[in-house]
Formats: sequence, structure tokens, C-alpha cells
Amino acid sequence: MSGDEGVLLYAYRGCLFRVPDQVQPPKAGSLFFCRNVGVRPGERVLEIGAGLGLAAVLAAKAGAGVIATDVVPEAVEAIRTNAALNGVAIDVRLGDCYAPVAGERFDLICTNPPQMPTPPGRARGDPAAAADNGGLDGWEILDRVIGGAPEHLRPGGRLVFTIFAFLGRKTAYAKLEARRLAPAILASEVQGFPRIGYERLDHLRSLDAEGTLPAMGLPSTVERLVIQGTLARA
Ligand SMILES: C[S@@+](CC[C@H](N)C(=O)[O-])C[C@H]1O[C@@H](n2cnc3c(N)ncnc32)[C@H](O)[C@@H]1O
Repeated sequence: MSGDEGVLLYAYRGCLFRVPDQVQPPKAGSLFFCRNVGVRPGERVLEIGAGLGLAAVLAAKAGAGVIATDVVPEAVEAIRTNAALNGVAIDVRLGDCYAPVAGERFDLICTNPPQMPTPPGRARGDPAAAADNGGLDGWEILDRVIGGAPEHLRPGGRLVFTIFAFLGRKTAYAKLEARRLAPAILASEVQGFPRIGYERLDHLRSLDAEGTLPAMGLPSTVERLVIQGTLARA
């Protein structure tokens, strides 16, 4: 560092977060996720794809025992920095999806995952793409998160995640039910339409089986959902 570089900081709910170059600053979806994830004190919580650690730090502040993962090394470093900056202990691990927590179980698994459907030929390997791109239909990471949840949740445990409504409420419910996770919608919010979505609008419309996007013209908003799947107790 030359000593003449700026430092980007983000303030939220009495906490301060350092936002390094390679890690996406919080967006409307990040705050929506934090407001509705529903962490309870004393819970063992896993956040997959924790970014700069916004939700993870707040969960730790709320009294949960938190393990936060990300596949981007700079994000892992940022989560460690931000935990220290806010005086909380978080177990931060680098890796893909459940790889860093093999054999472990949690009361709550949560994620605000990359979920922007990505047209053929537009996938990339950089951190910005890791934050946004959700594979061809947007479900690439989420399918793996849902698929692995039963073997990583304690009995009665919850999986909580965000989706764009154009990924499909009914699709989300079917995917959860297929893994014996009882589905529920915890929250819904209308947000500004994401800029990257405009570039991919034809692709998004081709996937929007539930008709959440206007058929003509440019959408100015998008609905976001927080979805929960609960594992049975017995
Ligand atoms: C939409 S961002 C959300 C970041 C943060 N949780 C928030 O709400 O602001 C998605 C995050 O998931 C991470 N990610 C992408 N693919 C992943 C994977 N396969 N396993 C773990 N994390 C992943 C990205 O690096 C990024 O930090």
C-alpha cells in the first residue's frame, strides 16, 4: 500500500465494515437478508457466501455461534477483518458451498447467494461474477445448498435463503419439499431492478415461468423473497 489509497467503509446497525476492492458492497438484497434471516441467540449458524460479513457479524452480535464461508479469498479476509473490527468471534472458512463444513450440523444455514441467471457464454471466474452469477437458470449454487441441507441441519433446523421472484416461488417450494424441508416465505420486498438484470432481460423473461416480470418494456422493480425450509424434528 502506498499510503495514499482510500478505504471504503460501510456503516450498518451500529457496526462498521471495511469493503475491500474485490468484495461487493452490500446491496438492497443484503439488507433484506439481514432483516429477515431470523437468527436466535445460542444457535449454531452457517452462512454460505458471507461476502464482507455483514449478516455474519450481526448474527454473532445477536449471540449466535457463527461459521461464515466464502469461495473468494479476499472475502474470507474481509470477514475476518470485519469480525475483529466489531469485536465478535466468527469462525471464517474458505471454500465452495459445504466443503468447509463437511460432517458438521447447524441450527440455521443461511445464504444470500449468487442467483442472477447467466446466459450461455457469460460465465466468468472473477470475484464479481462469483457474487452475482447463479448459473444458467440462477439456481446453480442454491440447488447445491438445498441438496446438502438435510445432512447439515440439526433436527428442526432451518435453511433460509433469498431469491428473485422470477426464479419462482413454486420452484423453490418444490425443491425444498423434494429434500423433506417444509417450505415457507418469511418475507417479500420490492426492490429496484438490478442493473445486471437489464443486460440479461431476454434470458430472465425466458425463465420467468410464474410471470413476475412485465412481458413488455423495461421493469423498474423486482420482487425479492426470503424463503425458509425447515427439517422435521423426528
Ligand atoms: C450475492 S453475494 C452476497 C454476499 C453477502 N452475503 C451479502 O448478502 O451481502 C454472494 C457471495 O457468495 C460467494 N460465493 C459464490 N459462490 C460461492 C460458493 N460456491 N461457495 C461459497 N460462496 C460462494 C460470493 O463470493 C459472494 O461473496
